[in-house]
Amino acid sequence: MPDYDALAAQARDSFEKAGDEKSLEEARVEWIGRKGRITVLLRQIPKLEADDRPEAGRRLNAIKSELAELFEHRSIELVEKALPVETRLDITHPGRTPFVGRLHPITKALREIVAVFREMGFDVAEGPQVETDYYNFEALNMPEHHPARGMWDTFYTGVPPGLVLRTHTSPVQIRVMESTPPPVRIIVPGRCYRADTPDATHSPVFYQVEGLYVDEGVSMAMLRGVLDAFARRLFGEDVPTRFRPSYFPFTEPSAELDIGCILCSGEGCRLCKGSGWLEILGAGMVNPALYGLVGYDAEQVAGYAFGMGVERIAMLRYGIDDIRLFYENDLRFLGQF
Ligand code: DAH
Repeated sequence: MPDYDALAAQARDSFEKAGDEKSLEEARVEWIGRKGRITVLLRQIPKLEADDRPEAGRRLNAIKSELAELFEHRSIELVEKALPVETRLDITHPGRTPFVGRLHPITKALREIVAVFREMGFDVAEGPQVETDYYNFEALNMPEHHPARGMWDTFYTGVPPGLVLRTHTSPVQIRVMESTPPPVRIIVPGRCYRADTPDATHSPVFYQVEGLYVDEGVSMAMLRGVLDAFARRLFGEDVPTRFRPSYFPFTEPSAELDIGCILCSGEGCRLCKGSGWLEILGAGMVNPALYGLVGYDAEQVAGYAFGMGVERIAMLRYGIDDIRLFYENDLRFLGQF
């Protein structure tokens, strides 16, 4: 019987002394390779005295698995050693927290607004951001040279002529009515553009949500009810609302919806400029002049429409005083939502 302890010690030694991957591999072949010394001894067990075989099998198999483990361990050590110090694995180092992204506050506000109207039975519709002059102005009762166009100055593409970046989501009202017979009940979230110089309340790129409901017997009282429910969902059950007469070419009559100032509760402050009220959207009864263009019968149907600026809603809802913050990509700001 060989001296197993001496054999094991000698084998261990050659694995431990191997200074690089090549000599480690040589040690593996010498000891536990297919013709390795331990492998050969294992193969010779059947030739031993019957009494010695169990002991020999146990010892040799134990040595072989010990060496296999030692080999794995040393390989990792040698690979690590070959790496530059700063890339070696330090298992005691605290883990790094992965950077988790989150929704932009505009996206959050947009989704919140859409969710409220979906619950009330509105479908979501969308339209192109590059729009024709016809849909952006003319079909909304603003023929060429109409003074109201000044309220929606935009970027004209020039080539081909007649294309503009849409200044509001209202053109989608026309597109949907053209392709869908009444009743229609939609909201339209989307990006809009205006030739505005950026300041605390203006951005040349911004978002709107449009609403349109056309059916038999739709009334202004229904509009009032829906918008009131919407305002209470976003700004709290107790928020007062009021309709204030206004003008839009595509609605008649037109109104603006105000909510009681959320900062001073109506006392009058800097935010509401002393009035106690904050304007949140424009609305009105769809001007019957629009129906002829889309093939609706103005004698049969009536409708209401509304449109709001998402940034404005988000600013009031989250207490933000400068619209530019939404577009500066400052993670200190965005990380707060
Ligand atoms: N399109 C208008 C704007 O951008 C907002 C608006 C007002 C939309 C009244 C409407 C509406 O649908 O009925 O200022």
